[in-house]
Amino acid sequence: MTTVEPFTIRLAQPDDEPVIAGLVVEGFLDKFRPVFGGQMDQSMRIMEKWIRLEHASGGVTSLVVEAGAPTEIVASVGVRAAESREDILARGLWAALRRNLGFLGATWAAALLSYPRYSSIPTEAYVERLVVAPQYRNHGLGRSLLQAAETLARDAGKDTVGLHVSGVNIPALKLYEDEGYEEISRQRSILTGHFLKIRDWLYLRKAF
Ligand SMILES: CC(C)(COP(=O)(O)OP(=O)(O)OC[C@H]1O[C@@H](n2cnc3c(N)ncnc32)[C@H](O)[C@@H]1OP(=O)(O)O)[C@@H](O)C(=O)NCCC(=O)NCCS
Repeated sequence: MTTVEPFTIRLAQPDDEPVIAGLVVEGFLDKFRPVFGGQMDQSMRIMEKWIRLEHASGGVTSLVVEAGAPTEIVASVGVRAAESREDILARGLWAALRRNLGFLGATWAAALLSYPRYSSIPTEAYVERLVVAPQYRNHGLGRSLLQAAETLARDAGKDTVGLHVSGVNIPALKLYEDEGYEEISRQRSILTGHFLKIRDWLYLRKAF
C-alpha cells in the first residue's frame, strides 16, 4: 500500500509546472480524452502552458503536496485569489490550442473547455484543478489540500471560496459537502453532456 506520511504542502515553484500539468491531465482524463482525442502529448503541452499563464497572469497560486520516498509531487490545487487578466489568458490558451491542434481542433477544444463558466467575484477565491495522483487517493491528501487552499484564500482577505464540480464526480462532491460547501447554482450543457458525459456543472461556495 502507498504510504503518504509524512507529507508536505508547499507553494508551487515555476519548475513544478510540468509535473502539475501531468497530474491534471491524468486526473481529468475523462474530460480531456474527448477534447484532445489520441493527442495526449499535446494536451500535456497545452496544460503546461495554461498553468504557466494562470500563474503569470491569472492571479492563480498553486499548492503542491510532496510525499513518498524518494519525495515526489503527488497532488496539486490552484487558487485564484488575485486579479486575473482574462484577455491574456484567453489569447494565450487559444494560441496554445491552435499551435498544437490546428484551427479546427482548437475550435472544438475551446468549445468543450468553455465549461464551466465562472465570472470572478472580488471577495471570493476560486479553487480549481484539485487533483491527487491515483495511487495516493483516499489518504486524506485531497481534504488537506482543500483546507490549505482555504487558508490561502483567507490570508488573501477573501470572504468566500467558490469552485465548480461536475455533477457526476461523486468523490469530489462528497469531499466538498463534507467540508461545508453548498450549491449556489448549476450550468447545464448539452454539448458537454453528449461528448464528456458531463451535463451538469455545479457551482459550490463556502463562506468563512
Ligand atoms: C477528488 C479527489 C481530489 C479526492 O482526493 P483524495 O485525496 O482521494 O480525498 P481524501 O482522501 O482527502 O478524502 C476526503 C473525502 O472525500 C470523499 N471521497 C474521496 N474519495 C471518495 C470516493 N472514491 N468515493 C466517495 N467519496 C470519496 C470522502 O468524503 C472522503 O472523506 P472520508 O475519507 O472521511 O470518507 C481525488 O479523487 C481526485 O484527484 N480525483 C480526480 C480529479 C478530480 O476530480 N478533482 C476534483 C475536481 S472538482
